[in-house]
Amino acid sequence: MANKTTAEKLATIQKGYTLEGATIELGAAIVDGELHKEAQVRLPLAMMNRHGLVAGATGTGKTVTLHMIAEQLSTAGVPVFLADIKGDLSGLATAAAGSEKLKARTDSIGQAWAGKTFPVEFLALGGDGNGIPVRATITSFGPILLSRVMELNDTQESSLQLVFHFADKNNLELIDLKDLRAVIQFLTSDEGKDELEELGGLSKATAGVILRELVNLEAQGLERFFGEPEFDTAELLRTAPDGRGVITCLELPTLQTKPMLFSTFLMWLLADLFEDLPKPATWTSPNWCSSSMRPTCFSTAHPRPSSTPSPPRSG
Ligand SMILES: Nc1ncnc2c1ncn2[C@@H]1O[C@H](COP(=O)(O)OP(=O)(O)OP(=O)(O)O)[C@@H](O)[C@H]1O
Ligand SMILES: [Mg+2]
Repeated sequence: MANKTTAEKLATIQKGYTLEGATIELGAAIVDGELHKEAQVRLPLAMMNRHGLVAGATGTGKTVTLHMIAEQLSTAGVPVFLADIKGDLSGLATAAAGSEKLKARTDSIGQAWAGKTFPVEFLALGGDGNGIPVRATITSFGPILLSRVMELNDTQESSLQLVFHFADKNNLELIDLKDLRAVIQFLTSDEGKDELEELGGLSKATAGVILRELVNLEAQGLERFFGEPEFDTAELLRTAPDGRGVITCLELPTLQTKPMLFSTFLMWLLADLFEDLPKPATWTSPNWCSSSMRPTCFSTAHPRPSSTPSPPRSG
């Protein structure tokens, strides 16, 4: 196959990135080692309902790309959720100071640059960090999600459901892990023998397994996540008074040592948002966009409409 000339490659890129409707501008193409600002690289805003992956070696601009996507989504009125593991997205809250070097760079890729602040909120999982603490109660988490977190089998899961049923019937509030442990301990004690029998289907041995798993969860730092006041996930879907989407940064300084805490939170968050998010028949931009670093990927919370354009194929 004959090699394409630079002009032909450029023409292919330009054609591929000529898009209708609002777009997220990412930069300009480099062809044969040279930057061409006439060949802009962009994503259609309407396509941000898909999953995406920003990959590259260290220092190649993944974080900067994510910054740009978050800023432009916010400007388009889309609330954004960022899981900030390395703490390098907090700069969104403050306007950057320009410099000659920066101006030369942004001019060279055909972007107008101005330092801007964005409406940013900081959250901290279970209070691990300086942001607003994010917590959920055991009751709202429910037995099914909790079983997934504890990796319970079917029998153990239905036993846990019985424990929740017992607590509900007796108006016992299950706020944190201690509450759940206390109910199971009661049911397996001599005092709770009659109640256990009445419940049927919950054996002492299974209750023992669940108790052990609860201790495991505590050891992984989850007792700080379960509790009150419960975080209202609708907070993640807000727009600022000026119409820009609020960018919520979840600080995760201790993720390396508590991976279970983050995966549990994500499970709960997605289950909760799945219930709450509106599902319009047609739309031109996502209602909410989330991203997590390492791996850096973004995904949005909407079903794909059949009219969404195909991704550009050139490059
Ligand atoms: N489009 C760009 N033009 C010029 N400089 C850039 C661009 N994108 C990123 N940089 C610069 O490159 C450096 C590394 O960028 P960034 O932090 O986004 O990399 P990264 O891929 O996230 O790295 P890491 O894997 O270490 O997290 C930064 O100093 C940034 O200013
Ligand atoms: Mg980075």
